[in-house]
Amino acid sequence: MRKKVTIVGAGQVGATAAQRIFERGYADVVLVDIIEGLPQGKALDILQSGPVVGSDVSIVGTNKYEDTAGSDVVVITSGVARKPGMSRDDLLFTNLDIVGAVTKETVKHSPKAVLIIVTNPLDAMCQHAYQVSGLPRERVIGQSGVLDTARFRTFLAQQLGVSPRDVQAYVLGGHGDTMVPLVRYTTVGGVPVADLVPKETLERIVKRTRDGGAEIVALLKTGSAYYAPSAGVAEMVDSIILDQHRILPCAAYLDGEYGIRGLYVGVPTRLGTGGIEEIIQIKLTAEEHAMLQKSADAVQELVNVMRKGRPKAA
Ligand code: APR
Repeated sequence: MRKKVTIVGAGQVGATAAQRIFERGYADVVLVDIIEGLPQGKALDILQSGPVVGSDVSIVGTNKYEDTAGSDVVVITSGVARKPGMSRDDLLFTNLDIVGAVTKETVKHSPKAVLIIVTNPLDAMCQHAYQVSGLPRERVIGQSGVLDTARFRTFLAQQLGVSPRDVQAYVLGGHGDTMVPLVRYTTVGGVPVADLVPKETLERIVKRTRDGGAEIVALLKTGSAYYAPSAGVAEMVDSIILDQHRILPCAAYLDGEYGIRGLYVGVPTRLGTGGIEEIIQIKLTAEEHAMLQKSADAVQELVNVMRKGRPKAA
């Protein structure tokens, strides 16, 4: 029987992820949204691209969670996106309620699924989904590192005039201003990037990577990025559905790894059918470790705000 992937949220990220996964052709896709007609219309439109793009899987749009039953992977993108001037953290309480409700519904119908969380603020949403779902940590994973790393690789490839495929890199930490692009583990065609790019240029690229989401929000003015985020989702879904054992940076619940316990932070993981097969612990210098810890502290701060609950209106 064919695999099944559910995507919750038929907005920019969700619909684009649905299109990308439909075009892979390895799994039937279910697109869910709270707005009537939206997921149905987008799914029908994507389905009608099948004869042209050469995909013969099914895609249906729905407002009912019964239709998601038995999914192998559930991608959660539902929520509100950033507008100019907003940080990801400004979305906290609105998206908390949405992600909590959606997680409960999807897990009820697909208890064996691997959940991929995309809604921001990412690390806090992962923490909430993990708690609400009751699933083991290897089956609740956040998409952020693949995106942040893709941005870093893109800027480096542009700088050097090489294919982005030949740039290998890791961006660790939370999906926010404190993310940690690991320059020491970044190579271009196997050559350490520090040998190829002057320090000041590298620092500029690291900063642009950290601000990568905000740069796009400022340009779009009406929403946030979705082509690269959905590409990140599809790469993670590939590795899970096809059991590829890819090593991808993802938000994972750490239980002592990197000296961090009880918190979602972006780290290298190996992804297969069951979700996270391994959290890969690479050696960090004291400085890199301090940056990762600082990033984890920022995630912890947001989680503490989340636990205290919504502030009362003045
Ligand atoms: N159940 C299902 N869908 C919902 C719910 C809900 N309870 N609440 C909101 N949605 C849907 C909206 O109707 C909308 O179609 O989620 C969709 C969100 O789509 P967009 O507003 O286009 O946002 P998008 O750009 O896709 O971003 C979604 O991903 O990258 C993150 O920061 C981003 O948190 C944001 C999320």
